[in-house]
Amino acid sequence: MARTFYVTTPIYYVNDVPHIGHAYTTVAADALARWRRLCGDEVCFATGCDAHGLKIQRAAAERGLDPATWASQTAQAFRDAWELLGITHTDFIITTEARHHRAVQQFLTAVHDNGYIELGTYRGLYCVACEAYYTPDELVEGTCPIHRRAVEEVEEENYFFQLSRFQDRLLAHYDAHPDAVAPAARRNEVLGFLRSGLQDFSISRTSITWGIPIPWDPAHVTYVWFDALINYCTVAGYGRDPEAFAKWWPADVHLIGKDILRFHAVYWPAMLMAAGEAPPRQVFAHGFLLVGGEKMSKTRLNQIAPADLVADFGVDGYRWHFLADQRFGPDGDFSYEAMIARYNTDLANGLGNLAARVLNMAVSYLDGQAPEHREDGPLRDVAGQSVAAVAAGYDRLEFSEACFAIQELVRAANAYIEDRAPWARHREGDTAAVAGILGDCLEALRIVALLATPVMPGACAQLWARLGLPGTPEGARLPGAAAWGAGPAAAGALRKGPSLFPRFEAGDRR
Ligand code: MSP
Repeated sequence: MARTFYVTTPIYYVNDVPHIGHAYTTVAADALARWRRLCGDEVCFATGCDAHGLKIQRAAAERGLDPATWASQTAQAFRDAWELLGITHTDFIITTEARHHRAVQQFLTAVHDNGYIELGTYRGLYCVACEAYYTPDELVEGTCPIHRRAVEEVEEENYFFQLSRFQDRLLAHYDAHPDAVAPAARRNEVLGFLRSGLQDFSISRTSITWGIPIPWDPAHVTYVWFDALINYCTVAGYGRDPEAFAKWWPADVHLIGKDILRFHAVYWPAMLMAAGEAPPRQVFAHGFLLVGGEKMSKTRLNQIAPADLVADFGVDGYRWHFLADQRFGPDGDFSYEAMIARYNTDLANGLGNLAARVLNMAVSYLDGQAPEHREDGPLRDVAGQSVAAVAAGYDRLEFSEACFAIQELVRAANAYIEDRAPWARHREGDTAAVAGILGDCLEALRIVALLATPVMPGACAQLWARLGLPGTPEGARLPGAAAWGAGPAAAGALRKGPSLFPRFEAGDRR
């Protein structure tokens, strides 16, 4: 039976429009989901939108809409963005859905029945943009440390989740599962926070109506974060399909940005323990994508929409850039100039050039027929190393390392062509040597198409077809198919075609 793999992105607030920061997490999750499918896993890949909370209620009211209508309208922009970027999620959840209401209420009931919820009074400083409370010493010049906006004094009767009772259990959990929070810097941050002691937190509001009613006291609605985190269970079948839930839960990895680490690595596992469910296997928090050294935000007007870059670099160029350019853990700066440089180096001059040279020569020197015999040339070992390094990169969610390993094979193949000069062998009439060299390069290209398909599905499918191979690279199964010489018999002749990645000149916006 196939292994199962369950990967999630955060559910994005519906009041924003998708920008390259949201797409960063989503594209990474997609590459991972595609990789695991290539390895034969059955994958559940969930994304969606977070529709509750004061922020959304107010945004809808400003537009004279009811919040549910506003939420479904704006969620469409995320669906469209993910379609544009070739995202292969298997579920898109909006927290307004009935299945989610049921799941949240069942979850709350379980936590309540298990004795982890009590009534209390809350007085605090609330940032509506974060949907979170701050203590006075967390404020920066009296404002929210993230949004630099005024916080509001709020006092109300709330239900509290007794997070403080989970300190030891969480520490023991992270002790037993060293990879449950990654990368290591984020794990240390979580451990530090846990050791400093945990406060109970309020999980209901009476001051707003937009949300999921607390099942035993419907005058209260559920705090947006408590509701939102449960989406990961809803998708897996919680509250409606116990068999599906047993199959998919616990999630293998929640991919998130570092801004929401505490919610995912402290609150969420404690909530699950309180409900009698297993914590996720891993929470991986990546850094921020900065623009001009700053976090993107509506107020700074520095948000970039994925569509703007896709227009210039294509979907594959877009996906390659964000996965290859920076390590996935730390913060990274985005610049258009760096994107042009990487596109030209890696794709136009690298893979694109290799594919064009090899196919052009094979069509003219070998009549478009792939040589049957594969020599055990020097590319064989490089290919083996690349396959292993790509797999290791995906295992550690080091997408840039996986991309680098693919580039190594491309570089080696380009260098091999320079070194062996098949054009000279052709002039000499040495057909066997030409077939040997080009046969090696075609095999390297086949393996590159396989390894790169999770990142660049469109270009790799085209390359696969030009190599005369049957089906698509996505139909192959690793690790077997990535072995040297393990390709299927060609279904057709080798074909030349337009450049896979036309070179991009500065100022040359397509
Ligand atoms: N709705 C909550 C998440 C609930 S999950 C149960 C939320 N939404 S959000 O719309 O603000 O999106 C947060 C996520 O978007 C971040 O954690 C991160 O994954 C992604 N990013 C948003 N801006 C980003 C950057 N500038 N850079 C990288 N990722 C960013 O918080």
